[in-house]
Amino acid sequence: MNYPVWQLGFPGGLLIAAVAVLHVFISHFAVGGGAYLVLTERRAYAHNDLELLGYVKLHSKFFALLTVVLGAVTGVGIWFTIGLVSPEATSSLIHTFVWGWAIEWVFFFVEIAAALIYAYHWDTLDRKTHLIIGWIYFVAAWLSLVVINGIITYMLTPGRWLETRSFWDGFFNPTYWPSLWARTAMAAALAGMFGLVTAMRERSPLRERVVRWAGWWLVLGIAALLPLSRWYFHDFPAYSRAYFSGTYTALQHALRGGLACAAAALLLAVVFALLRPKMMNPVVVAVLLVAGFGVMGSGEYLREFSRYPYVINSYIYANDIRMAQVQSITASGVAGTSSWVDANAADPNAYGGQLFAMQCGSCHAVDGYRGMRRISRGWDAKFASELLLHMPVVRATMPPFVGDEHDRAALGSYLASLAPATPSGANEKELGQQVFAMHCAMCHSVGGRRRPLDFKGTDPDAIVSMVGSLHDMSPDMPSFSGTDAQRHALAVYLSNPSQ
Ligand code: HEC
Ligand code: HEC
Repeated sequence: MNYPVWQLGFPGGLLIAAVAVLHVFISHFAVGGGAYLVLTERRAYAHNDLELLGYVKLHSKFFALLTVVLGAVTGVGIWFTIGLVSPEATSSLIHTFVWGWAIEWVFFFVEIAAALIYAYHWDTLDRKTHLIIGWIYFVAAWLSLVVINGIITYMLTPGRWLETRSFWDGFFNPTYWPSLWARTAMAAALAGMFGLVTAMRERSPLRERVVRWAGWWLVLGIAALLPLSRWYFHDFPAYSRAYFSGTYTALQHALRGGLACAAAALLLAVVFALLRPKMMNPVVVAVLLVAGFGVMGSGEYLREFSRYPYVINSYIYANDIRMAQVQSITASGVAGTSSWVDANAADPNAYGGQLFAMQCGSCHAVDGYRGMRRISRGWDAKFASELLLHMPVVRATMPPFVGDEHDRAALGSYLASLAPATPSGANEKELGQQVFAMHCAMCHSVGGRRRPLDFKGTDPDAIVSMVGSLHDMSPDMPSFSGTDAQRHALAVYLSNPSQ
């Protein structure tokens, strides 16, 4: 993020995620819930079911309050957070899609007006007009999804836009359609979930009728969502599909968690809404809502993670540096292009800390989630500044470090200052294990999946000389910066790593 004075204490991306997941949860309900309202109202008229009509009236007030108030507040919250965390990308999105946003806001205005008229004019409008207002609401709400979906999917798969810079190429990009239909399915599922919430206030037998009706929305929504998401992820760029078969445990957890939530929601809805609606109760509804939130949250997380190392694929990095700026920042240094930092601060680590906030802070914090103090434990300044040359090698999810020699030295020295430690151990092998953790484990594993090193049984002396020439073996490796004793201990460990 470009405001290193604005220190969060946790990764900026997490702040966006927290606001955004709440927003998408509410805003997808705002889309599906619109269709649910009018179709339930129509059903009530068709069956002359006054009890059901009473339920829709109640539900419409709940709906209007939740979507208009919470939806709008969190929507504005997203603009606020992305503007602070990624000002460059936010500006770019506004410029590229200025007419898209304008139209989106018109739909949004129509949506709010129609929602309020719908919810508060049951008695003053005739049935037909009231239904028409409901349809106007739903169409405007869905069209706002149609617009925003183009912009969200563009960030991951800008497609031909990268060459043509044409609005329509960016908008109807390679993941536009699968994402639109997957989101529409999720909207239907959420309509059913929230339909169950207000159903809990009704008495039998209306309650069971509504539970079953809302249950169908939920079941069909989730059942459609699964193949549609499969289609959506299938169209992801090849580099990010590779993340899913890689060593990113957080990604694997999010994927499995999302699938488990979807399966749980499907199962509970089939049993408690379709088969045994009498048994539906507020606890099950609460579990369903949590599961729905889990599905939404995991989907958004997977999409954001898949975009790494970019915020707009092949155009702006996730730390808000435009790819086109890389050369000029490398030549003139960060301080030459940002008025926020002071390259000549009295405390050299103060400048390094600002660089950390700018270039790493959207994904790493000092402590906590992806905490840098834990990661950089035991690094020396020389090693750290050399490692900065290889960020995309450490993880393909990371943008390259951008800056001149002075910047790299300052950030390296700051990283080394976070958790100074000297490797130690009861014996040489334990010492070697720690040396490995501090100098190699960010890129290699022993017996694991990440660039596994297997030197079991190799003569330690041969390993010692090899470690002396790492940088010659692969230009992607920093040279070993430890002492001779540490190098020997590392060799002993690698030649016999088992416990
Ligand atoms: C910045 C990441 C990075 C760091 C740190 C790093 N390596 Fe590597 N290493 C690589 C890459 C990239 C290769 C090239 C081959 C590959 O991709 O597996 C490689 C290759 C190797 C190879 C040759 C692979 C083989 O099996 O023949 C050895 C041996 C090796 N590294 C040892 C080490 C040791 C020991 C350390 C710690 C002192 C270390 N590396 C630190 C990235 C790194
Ligand atoms: C776009 C997001 C992003 C940015 C920006 C970023 N990182 Fe990372 N970084 C990651 C992810 C994701 C991982 C992998 C975490 C995992 O494996 O669970 C990671 C892992 C690492 C690791 C290896 C961690 C380990 O467990 O061995 C190091 C070292 C690291 N980052 C340093 C940095 C530094 C220094 C910067 C700033 C110059 C930076 N990163 C910027 C996303 C980012």
